Amino acid sequence: MKLLVCGGAGFIGSTFARQRLLEHGDQVTVLDKLTYAGREENFHDLLENPGFGFVHGAIEDRDAVAQAIAAAAPEAIVNFAAETHVDRSIAKPDAFVSTHALGTYVLLEAARTHGGTGENELRYVQVSTDEVYGSIEEGTFTEESPLAPSSPYSATKAGADLLVQSYFHTYGLQALICRGSNNYGPYQYPEKLIPLMVLNALHGDALPVYGDGMQVRNWIHATDFAAAIGHVLAHGQPGEVYNAGGPDEEANMTVVTRIIALAGASEAQIEHVTDRPGHDRRYSLSSAKVRALGWTPKVRFEEGLEQTVAWYRDNDWWWQPIRSGDYLAYYERQYGRSLQS
Ligand code: NAD
Ligand code: TYD
Repeated sequence: MKLLVCGGAGFIGSTFARQRLLEHGDQVTVLDKLTYAGREENFHDLLENPGFGFVHGAIEDRDAVAQAIAAAAPEAIVNFAAETHVDRSIAKPDAFVSTHALGTYVLLEAARTHGGTGENELRYVQVSTDEVYGSIEEGTFTEESPLAPSSPYSATKAGADLLVQSYFHTYGLQALICRGSNNYGPYQYPEKLIPLMVLNALHGDALPVYGDGMQVRNWIHATDFAAAIGHVLAHGQPGEVYNAGGPDEEANMTVVTRIIALAGASEAQIEHVTDRPGHDRRYSLSSAKVRALGWTPKVRFEEGLEQTVAWYRDNDWWWQPIRSGDYLAYYERQYGRSLQS
């Protein structure tokens, strides 16, 4: 199958591109703006593959999208392109609005005019998040749960989802949505909880826990989420939403304590810092609908976390260039302190 993977230079998009090329024999063209989080290092091992192509550009740029579609001649478009960090959305929401609202709109228009509603129907999959449902104290969100996003990140992702659904209802675009829970694994930018704590633990730096650290997240390994998206692409019903949650829920403090043990760090490195404004307490996702299509997550959190810590320990070539320059400025702004190392 010929795929256009938007945002394929990021953490999950590159995992999906790798899986489709190497395990399914698909042809993959990536369209990516290469923001701070999008890096060619994320698909370094795919560059020589004859089935792989890359177009540098933004999804809100009509010309770049047209160029990517001409290069890919896609049978499906999978859209991962997004600004993805809640803390950055609180500090500066602009890019979240333009990428998620305008960018998704430009892609949907391109899909529609490229045959998304015709005979040889092109399928469009929007990659989304459990955060569009907001926080849940008890129980689990299903696809029927109301949207109640709390941050500029989740609100703009919810807006993009609604636009995608409108293109199914209004124009008959063969569009589907797959919403994942918190992902972890190799190639994740170290602003998110797990890679940030792993690298700080390995370096003897402070481990900044927001508030009491008893917030709960539903962890899914990126290879499992990528497989769920592939499953929705192949077997899902257009117009439908599919949730893909991981097999384990953990409080942040439990995650940090396990990372300390795996990295050989010290609990004295834990520092409770000011909580995130509007911090969602718990996410939990029911995946019954996508499981009914035959998908099941393979990686349990304990095993996946151990592999992830080992990957960061063994791949300093990947994170060394990040842990300098702009990242240090970001870190100081976000945490009001510098990294020691
Ligand atoms: P990421 O930040 O690692 O990657 C995002 C990618 O999108 C980067 O390569 C970036 O350069 C690219 N991008 C950003 N703006 C763009 C634009 N305007 N045009 C083209 N490319 C652009 O994020 P990720 O964690 O890989 O997330 C991918 C998708 O999965 C996002 O849509 C996100 O909302 C969703 N998601 C993420 C998680 C998670 O825990 N990380 C969970 C559920 C859903
Ligand atoms: P994060 O990885 O930013 O994902 P999300 O906000 O999308 O769930 O954060 C996961 C959890 O970890 C969340 O409850 C916030 C918390 N957190 C910290 O306690 N310290 C940190 O330095 C970061 C980045 C996150």
